[in-house]
Amino acid sequence: MTRIAYVNGRYVPHGQAAVHIEDRGYQFADGVYEVIAIHQGNMVDEKGHLDRLDHSLGELQIAWPMSRQSLQVVMREMILRNRITNGMIYFQISRGVATRNHAFPDDTESALVMTVRHSPPLDQTAAAVTGVNVITIPDIRWARRDIKSISLLPNVLGKQQASEAGAYEAWMIDGDGNITEGTSSNAWIVNKDGDLITRDASHAILNGITRLAVLDLARAEGVTFVERPFDVAEAKDAREAFVTSTTSLVKPVVRIDGDPVGNGGIGMLTAKILSFYTDHMKAQGSAV
Ligand SMILES: Cc1ncc(COP(=O)(O)O)c(C=O)c1O
Repeated sequence: MTRIAYVNGRYVPHGQAAVHIEDRGYQFADGVYEVIAIHQGNMVDEKGHLDRLDHSLGELQIAWPMSRQSLQVVMREMILRNRITNGMIYFQISRGVATRNHAFPDDTESALVMTVRHSPPLDQTAAAVTGVNVITIPDIRWARRDIKSISLLPNVLGKQQASEAGAYEAWMIDGDGNITEGTSSNAWIVNKDGDLITRDASHAILNGITRLAVLDLARAEGVTFVERPFDVAEAKDAREAFVTSTTSLVKPVVRIDGDPVGNGGIGMLTAKILSFYTDHMKAQGSAV
């Protein structure tokens, strides 16, 4: 079956999908993106992702390339045309194509490209849920990390550093010594009192849609949580740690910079939150 991509109004074979060389996304990283999980044919937290897209576009004064409803139609069409049951949708919106000049062009239409891909179905068995290592690195990103910008070079460099260190993720440290988030995930700890802690949403972090879902689930299940900054020492002293993202779901962290977190195993609260989250994924309404 031919994989289909969407490029500015056309469904095209993936191998032939291309954008103009003067697309501002290509030349300036002048654009934003979203990644949405598909579980059993349904998009997970579609509304949250589209709300965050609206925030990112608004903050950069990039126009929606089409109405929100039309974008939802294109996403459903892509799931159907690519026959995806479990996978991911990726799309990015750039400010469009214009002669290269830093300032915003006049009368340029935003550009939209979208791809979808399969991923393995959710496997929640104990053997499938493994703990991962993280390293800590300085956060060298810009000051508007709440915008899901396609400008990801510091994140790419950080993930490469993690990879070279044999780690799954790098937690980035701001100028005050506090952890902001991972290069492609939000960071969480459970302290000795059993409190769940994650950094508060601000310009300092991307407000993860998985993060928001986990906070809602914690609220509903009566898990005490606090949204505040925490530093590396507090993280290393924690009883449990984990990361959240669309692609990683809730992933236990068992080592930080080589030091074991708690007893070095998967935390009990972390396992519980993963189970709440997988139930949340399974409960998504029919999208197609
Ligand atoms: C820097 C960063 N933080 C957090 C996240 C998690 O966001 P979400 O849960 O919406 O996938 C991501 C996801 O790509 C990210 O890139």
